[in-house]
Amino acid sequence: MEASFASYCCLCFILFLSLFPIQSVSQYPYLGTANQTSGCSINDTNSTPNGYYSCKHFPAGSCSSYLIAKSKSHNHDLGFYDTSFGNTNLVMKAVDCSCGRGHLYGNITEYNTTSGDSYETIANHVFYGFTSCSMLRSFNPNHSIDINASSTEEGISVEVPLRCACPTQDQKNVGIHSLAVYMVQPNESITSIARDLLVDKDTILDANMLSNTTQLYPFTPLLVPLNKYETCKLDPSNSDACVSPYLESYLKYAATIGVIIIIAFGPSLSLALFTIFV
Ligand SMILES: *[C@@H]1O[C@H](CO)[C@@H](O)[C@H](O)[C@H]1NC(C)=O
Ligand SMILES: *[C@@H]1O[C@H](CO)[C@@H](O)[C@H](O)[C@H]1NC(C)=O
Ligand SMILES: *[C@@H]1O[C@H](CO)[C@@H](O)[C@H](O)[C@H]1NC(C)=O
Ligand SMILES: *[C@@H]1O[C@H](CO)[C@@H](O)[C@H](O)[C@H]1NC(C)=O
Ligand SMILES: *[C@@H]1O[C@H](CO)[C@@H](O)[C@H](O)[C@H]1NC(C)=O
Ligand SMILES: *[C@@H]1O[C@H](CO)[C@@H](O)[C@H](O)[C@H]1NC(C)=O
Ligand SMILES: *[C@@H]1O[C@H](CO)[C@@H](O)[C@H](O)[C@H]1NC(C)=O
Ligand SMILES: *[C@@H]1O[C@H](CO)[C@@H](O)[C@H](O)[C@H]1NC(C)=O
Repeated sequence: MEASFASYCCLCFILFLSLFPIQSVSQYPYLGTANQTSGCSINDTNSTPNGYYSCKHFPAGSCSSYLIAKSKSHNHDLGFYDTSFGNTNLVMKAVDCSCGRGHLYGNITEYNTTSGDSYETIANHVFYGFTSCSMLRSFNPNHSIDINASSTEEGISVEVPLRCACPTQDQKNVGIHSLAVYMVQPNESITSIARDLLVDKDTILDANMLSNTTQLYPFTPLLVPLNKYETCKLDPSNSDACVSPYLESYLKYAATIGVIIIIAFGPSLSLALFTIFV
């Protein structure tokens, strides 16, 4: 009688767990679509802002994140610095990422226009594609910057929402402590990006919920999960990332909880399974 009650409870618990689609919030889907261009001519303000990661399941989430692009031009003033990585020249910026307007992850930064700027040049050339025209329009409804670059004056302050994302609990559990956002260039594949950034290809596929056969599109963001050692390689200035005491204590804590669960519930769980299947 006692055993069948235990198996009943166990079954209920499993059914209860299956009510929650845990998988769907455990990673972020790739946000690239076909026909995405770096241009600004399409009015897409009414559609969901493309290329920003949803934080609606983690509203309190905030973290540090990295923006990584390949570029020959550099904007040191905006906090992007050059890093030579393998045979690849990258520009990189560390940002604090948080859940913001419209349940999207972002880092809001300020930019003062110089003569000739338009939302298109700001999005694609000044910020390497880490912001989008539609988000610039929605944050800064100044039509004259949007339409006529040649008439834009200097020194107009523009709010710039930069794309970023925070690791999910599942990703933290396997040692990923931040997600870098990489802007895909024409003719790049997951294989070439993984090789250039010295990150495992399957880790990138997993983080973006992609399969081996999915096509990548240029000018779209791709998440690159960084564990503490990879961050160390990518961001040599951030020596804290190499010996993160937080991460190490977190992992110890998680391991201890795991052992306690096995010791405390192991015998009753196996008894329950035994009564179900025998
Ligand atoms: C992309 O553009 C091509 C040609 O203009 C069109 O046939 C195709 O349906 C578009 N794809 C999407 C997903 O919009
Ligand atoms: C975009 O929207 C603005 C204002 O709503 C309009 O003036 C402009 O013509 C539109 N541009 C395109 C390319 O549809
Ligand atoms: C954006 O990131 C910078 C650099 O980490 C940080 O100083 C700033 O507070 C962040 N802004 C927001 C709104 O998160
Ligand atoms: C933009 O200009 C204002 C006023 O001149 C200044 O206070 C601010 O620091 C500037 N911001 C940036 C990002 O350069
Ligand atoms: C853009 O601005 C220039 C210089 O102010 C002006 O001559 C031109 O007519 C404007 N073009 C449009 C389409 O508004
Ligand atoms: C919008 O941009 C124009 C110049 O292109 C500038 O004169 C005007 O002050 C701006 N408006 C606001 C509200 O910033
Ligand atoms: C990149 O891809 C485009 C279109 O698929 C092709 O025309 C071009 O030759 C490619 N460039 C390189 C350097 O492979
Ligand atoms: C991708 O393909 C490789 C070999 O072709 C395989 O080892 C790997 O598991 C595949 N990864 C995914 C996520 O399908």
